[in-house]
Amino acid sequence: MKKDLFKSFPLMVEHHRKIGSTNDRAFEILLADGVKANGTIVLADYQEKGRGRFQREWFAREKESLLMSVVFYPPRDYPYHLIPLAVGLSVVQSIKKYTDKNVYLKWPNDIVFGGRKLGGILVESRSYGDEPLGFVIGIGINVKGKSDSFPDEIKKIAITLEEISGKACSVDEFLRIILREIRRILNISYFEKDFFMKELKKHFIHKKGDLIKINTTNLIVVGYFVEIGDNGELVISTEKGNLSLVQGEIVDASCT
Ligand code: BTN
Repeated sequence: MKKDLFKSFPLMVEHHRKIGSTNDRAFEILLADGVKANGTIVLADYQEKGRGRFQREWFAREKESLLMSVVFYPPRDYPYHLIPLAVGLSVVQSIKKYTDKNVYLKWPNDIVFGGRKLGGILVESRSYGDEPLGFVIGIGINVKGKSDSFPDEIKKIAITLEEISGKACSVDEFLRIILREIRRILNISYFEKDFFMKELKKHFIHKKGDLIKINTTNLIVVGYFVEIGDNGELVISTEKGNLSLVQGEIVDASCT
């Protein structure tokens, strides 16, 4: 039998018309069921308190976005820092399969096209008692509609699948594709890590020498892009030599 991180995927799907945040609901399930919940999916048509990275709000119009959270219990020897990157690659591949467009990863895992954001990924973890570390993978993708109807703060930096493809898109059709890709790529990231890293590195927007400004927890760092390292870290060259960053957000880049 083929090796698989999931007994069944999706294990169970909960679909809400309206919810606070699918990530919060997925954590309730994770707390109640522990490892048995591995592969559970929570979907929503609308979130009242959608959360983004860095404690930001996540905006999405009702029924126009894929709003999904996945409960994931990796094996204890899974390199946890690869989860956000593997999910980023799954989204890029799903969009290619659905729209035939090449979209890119802005490190670590913003999904971008023409300098605008198509969606984002929020990976959070908790452990309860003796249970292994459990993860909730939150994915928000702008599928339908036009970004000029978005709130002023984001209308110039966001874009939708319908806009990039010029065709009518369906959240449900995209969901079917992304579920297959998430399972496939999380498995590859564990069982064929070297192949996964090689594939992943092809999909970043950054080119050698791009000037990049990164907001790390309490520091702004500026440097030139060198590479994505073998553990998914961002390597930049600065006046003080090469720096490897494992977390942060690119706030400005010459390429985007
Ligand atoms: C980002 O800031 O780029 C990440 C955004 C992640 C949003 C998704 S939407 C589904 C899931 N539930 C949430 O509350 N957030 C994530």
